[in-house]
Amino acid sequence: MKLAFRVFGYLKPYWRPVVVLYVALFAGLGLQLVIPLVLARAIDDGVVGGDRGFLLNAALLIVGLTVLQGGFTFLRSYLVQTVAERVGFDLRNALYVHLQGLPFSFYDRSQTGQLMTRATDDINNIRAMLVMAMRPLVLAAGTFVAITIILIRTDAVLAAVALAPLPFLIWFAVRFGVAMRPMFFQVQQQFGVMTSALQENVAGNRVVRAFAQERGESERFETELEELFEANLRTARRWSFSYPLTLLLSGAGLAAVLWLGGYRVLTGSLSIGTLVAFNRYMILLNEPVRWLGFVINRIARAVASAERIFETLDTEPTIAERPDAVALRPMRGEVRFADVSFAFAGAARDALTGISFVARPGTVTALVGPTGSGKSALVGLIPRFYDPTAGRVEIDGHDARELTLDSLRSQIGTALQESFLFSVTVRENIAYGRPDATMDEIVAAATAAQAHGFISAMPEGYETEVGERGVTLSGGQKQRLAIARALLQDPKILLLDDATASVDTETEHAIREALRAAMHGRTSFVIAQRLTTVEDADQILVLQDGRIVERGTHPELIRRAGFYRELYDLQRRDDQEPAFLPVDAKPGVAAVAGVAPP
Ligand SMILES: Nc1ncnc2c1ncn2[C@@H]1O[C@H](COP(=O)(O)OP(=O)(O)OP(=O)(O)O)[C@@H](O)[C@H]1O
Ligand SMILES: [Mg+2]
Repeated sequence: MKLAFRVFGYLKPYWRPVVVLYVALFAGLGLQLVIPLVLARAIDDGVVGGDRGFLLNAALLIVGLTVLQGGFTFLRSYLVQTVAERVGFDLRNALYVHLQGLPFSFYDRSQTGQLMTRATDDINNIRAMLVMAMRPLVLAAGTFVAITIILIRTDAVLAAVALAPLPFLIWFAVRFGVAMRPMFFQVQQQFGVMTSALQENVAGNRVVRAFAQERGESERFETELEELFEANLRTARRWSFSYPLTLLLSGAGLAAVLWLGGYRVLTGSLSIGTLVAFNRYMILLNEPVRWLGFVINRIARAVASAERIFETLDTEPTIAERPDAVALRPMRGEVRFADVSFAFAGAARDALTGISFVARPGTVTALVGPTGSGKSALVGLIPRFYDPTAGRVEIDGHDARELTLDSLRSQIGTALQESFLFSVTVRENIAYGRPDATMDEIVAAATAAQAHGFISAMPEGYETEVGERGVTLSGGQKQRLAIARALLQDPKILLLDDATASVDTETEHAIREALRAAMHGRTSFVIAQRLTTVEDADQILVLQDGRIVERGTHPELIRRAGFYRELYDLQRRDDQEPAFLPVDAKPGVAAVAGVAPP
């Protein structure tokens, strides 16, 4: 019930068309109820009474009424579609906006397929319910009231017989709907599971094929599909059993009316016209009632979908902005970590423990350490992708949690480990955070990110489409676009995660030059697998298992001959590998060379 109120709450902004819609619905209904009365008079006075003129007039009247009814039907169905479309739009929008606000940890736990199903199929179910379910319900109720009055006024006994199967039909339909609801929830849930399997296979199809797992993945998909098929079949079975039964019940009612009514016509206590009208009414009444099963089916489906949608909408954003948050604008860009610890939701151990450091405005901090040591996690705490579990992250002396998300994030530029490009033009990808940027600014950012060269060489330059319908970019090219995107924002704080991991030496050099210029005047954090990239940093933090194990400048750390020195020597030795080795073989050989004594 609460659910229904929530769904109908979305109709509120459209109350005007909804009112017109119901006026049209009831006007159409009224006309529909008048037509049998005209019919009755036409038969009794026109046919039985032999009045040709009256018969012609009645026929014309029926045509007129039907045309009018058609007009109302058109108005009603047009408005219903529009309103349902708008409600679907609003719901989808609300869901989208809400998803944007949900913390990263929500996405860590959720399957993309399930979320997709909610935004598409579930919303369609609600839309379909609004289009298809409301009319029969109102029609059923309206016809029922009107017909009961008319029937009782003409012949109470006949009316009683005609209406007798009705309670059974309604009881049956309601019970059926109650039984169907959990079944539909299961169907929707399974649909999400299947979409997830499909989405993962499409997104990861290279991996699937590279490891020759097509068969295994097909089987996995088939299992999920079968499960969906079964769930659908179970609901369909119940549904197809109930429909003929309702047909039988309403048929029995009709037969009873014909028999008893026919008898009364024969004894002269009922006019034949009234009997014909009576029959029309019965058919009119039975139609929506028989549809009740279908309607309840639709409603059950919509309720199941609404439950899933509201479940997502009710997920509280844990990274919420405080009501008294301050907008720090402009910021100087000082970043201080005060004894920060952090654990991912559901993770057994901390990803970061007791991290303390200060990054002064305009300086470069490099983060190095083995994979999984917590470099990305540390950087993610600065724009509040995650909040620390203990300690404080401070920006210009303010706890980051006291700042508005917008003022915080709009002054932080990020080029993250998995830089994502949208299927739009290169220009739009670079201008993503600042759609108002001029072409000159875009070119300047691309030039600084050493991307201008390869962009100009593309068939349509900055207007080249990226992704599905356009060019495929290499890892290094993607990274440079991501850097250009971050630079265009002219941020006070710049976060570069693995910005140069996947480019060749020449490009790496170019990017390093570009970054040197780009980082000028910004507090920058650089994570780089290549230690040569971080040699100029003002401070280097060496991470291991989520702790800072060493810190200092490059010369200091080299002199200390600790973990950093070890990593550095290891990498230098790799770089001196003979150049004649095929490029593909190099990493493996290098790794072996790394452990072997020189
Ligand atoms: N979304 C997540 N949920 C749970 N645990 C995570 C998540 N992301 C990372 N971890 C774990 O947290 C730890 C730190 O991960 P992080 O991504 O910060 O490492 P990293 O130093 O950036 O490694 P790399 O050099 O490979 O990028 C790792 O043990 C990792 O398994
Ligand atoms: Mg990382």
